[in-house]
Amino acid sequence: MRSHYCGDVNETLDGQTVTVAGWMHRRRDHGGVIFIDLRDREGLVQVVCNPEDAESFAIAERVRSEYVLEIEGTVRLRPDGSDNADLKSGKIEIVASRVVILNSAETPPFPLTEQAEVSEDVRLRHRYIDLRRPEMQQKLRFRSKITSQLRRFLDDNGFLDIETPILTKATPEGARDYLVPSRTHQGDFFALPQSPQLFKQLLMVSGMDRYYQIVRCFRDEDLRADRQPEFTQVDIETSFVEEEDLMAMMEEMIRGLFANVLEEQLPNPFPRMTYAEAMARYGSDKPDLRIDLELVEVSDLMKGVDFKVFAGPANDEKGRVACLRVPNGASLSRKQIDDYTKFVSIYGAKGLAYIKVNDIAAGREGLQSPILKFLPDDVVAAIMDRTGAETGDLVFFGADNAHIVNEAIGALRVKVGHDLGLVKHGWQPLWVVAFPMFEWDDKSDRWTALHHPFTAPRESDLGLLETDPGKCLSRAYDMVLNGTELGGGSMRIHKADVQSQVFELLGISKEEADDKFGFLLEALKFGCPPHGGLAFGLDRLAMLMTGSASIRDVMAFPKTQSASCLLTDAPSNVSEAQLKELNIRLRKVPVIAEASSE
Ligand code: AMO
Ligand code: AMP
Repeated sequence: MRSHYCGDVNETLDGQTVTVAGWMHRRRDHGGVIFIDLRDREGLVQVVCNPEDAESFAIAERVRSEYVLEIEGTVRLRPDGSDNADLKSGKIEIVASRVVILNSAETPPFPLTEQAEVSEDVRLRHRYIDLRRPEMQQKLRFRSKITSQLRRFLDDNGFLDIETPILTKATPEGARDYLVPSRTHQGDFFALPQSPQLFKQLLMVSGMDRYYQIVRCFRDEDLRADRQPEFTQVDIETSFVEEEDLMAMMEEMIRGLFANVLEEQLPNPFPRMTYAEAMARYGSDKPDLRIDLELVEVSDLMKGVDFKVFAGPANDEKGRVACLRVPNGASLSRKQIDDYTKFVSIYGAKGLAYIKVNDIAAGREGLQSPILKFLPDDVVAAIMDRTGAETGDLVFFGADNAHIVNEAIGALRVKVGHDLGLVKHGWQPLWVVAFPMFEWDDKSDRWTALHHPFTAPRESDLGLLETDPGKCLSRAYDMVLNGTELGGGSMRIHKADVQSQVFELLGISKEEADDKFGFLLEALKFGCPPHGGLAFGLDRLAMLMTGSASIRDVMAFPKTQSASCLLTDAPSNVSEAQLKELNIRLRKVPVIAEASSE
């Protein structure tokens, strides 16, 4: 139908006849001459319809926004002074000799011609129109470039692309499962995979050695800007490797991707930081190193102070008191400080004490704070010294159990960094390593796996599994980029007895382990090689590389914050007949959740 994409018609075709096809983007009537901007995947081209060609002109008069047209015509250079430098085709125009309306279109629910403020719900409801916008086309093309680049690297390095089941058994990655009822085994359910973790390990037992898959994963969890209920992993596993081999190869893949697709040079090697250091300095296991602010430990200074809010956590081994110095923060208003206090309360912080440094040279007199009266001179001096506070700064305090302080002050660090324009330009990748194997969960009163239960403990820490599990470090590693966890993985447990021991520690009884993971425990006994791998979040990678605010912007058909699809109206009711066939009776009429995509 077409000889050229609209966006590809340029001055090299001057004088030639071309046929283009696409959507009517904009029409302008210029005293007898009609200009049509025709749009397709590759861009816009200007078409001129002259009244001398009565037939084409008559059709051009009828076309409306988003009509689908086929246009034949002759390419000519635009008259002097009418070039459009914003368009690839901006030096030429097509003089139409034939205009065919391939399809009409109703007025679109939102205009595509201008940067109109359109709510995301409306965009998602009519996603097929939203995706016509050049910005969205650009993002999906970019994403496709990323996948093809990653595939090329993995193919070239001997990885086999192997598919694993979608209808499967629960795979524990820490979220709820999406369940699918079985008709042929009534009362039984499949779970959609949270990741292919167990299958990729079984593929290593099979001797496949290097596996990859660009694969959909399903997790019923609280959604945020960087989380969707179904998302895509670049999932990787290899045998007979150590973490150093794998990390080096993965770095090379990501460095190559950035170099080829964005022409950006990432550091070689990526810096590394232990989990303990990341938590101490940034309150986060995915620190954004573009922001120079750091948490400063002051627990030791607060043990003896007359302020229970600080002394309590300072004397509790699970507590923490930490400061965050905000350069030039003394100019923050009462309202701004109140807003930050509200912000940290989201993370469970009960308050946000602060000291304004009006004049560092004046000692206590130069400071301003509601908590100053509780702090003796030597403590105040030590805080100023340790935080490096200068005149004009402000020092925030977080005091609580370490978990809350890290979450709250870690998040405050990032927020303040953005608010005050302290985020440096560029890419800051990093490996976080030496994660603990387990975290104690007060609510359920048991150990939980920090990664997943198949992560291997460090060889030298094996003994700690019995004596002090909280101190046992794992062979896991996360790749972090600009404060986002891009991917994570580990060397795996490849011995059945160690796997059983870890299940036991996690409070999984022998019966439960056999029921849920019996097939894995059995496979480990049949000659499982040492192996390890990792998985990247493809959507997150595309989000970061395109500078998008949400992973929804790099997915063709994302779901809303309440995990629904506004376009198809999924999830939706099923017929009574279908339920009957599955032998399922609903307990009560389901409440239809408010769909929203904030
Ligand atoms: P993990 O759970 O860390 O590890 O997931 C790997 C990566 O997947 C991305 N990701 C998500 N992206 C969008 N929406 C979500 N809901 C979501 N959840 C995770 C993140 C994350 O780093 N099987 C292990 C990997 C392994 O050990 O090899 C796993 O799934 O970018
Ligand atoms: P209060 O004694 O509750 O009036 O608190 C005095 C100051 O300490 C206020 O600025 C509070 O915001 C702050 N504050 C209270 N609890 C905490 C906490 N857990 N961590 C940090 N600051 C706190």
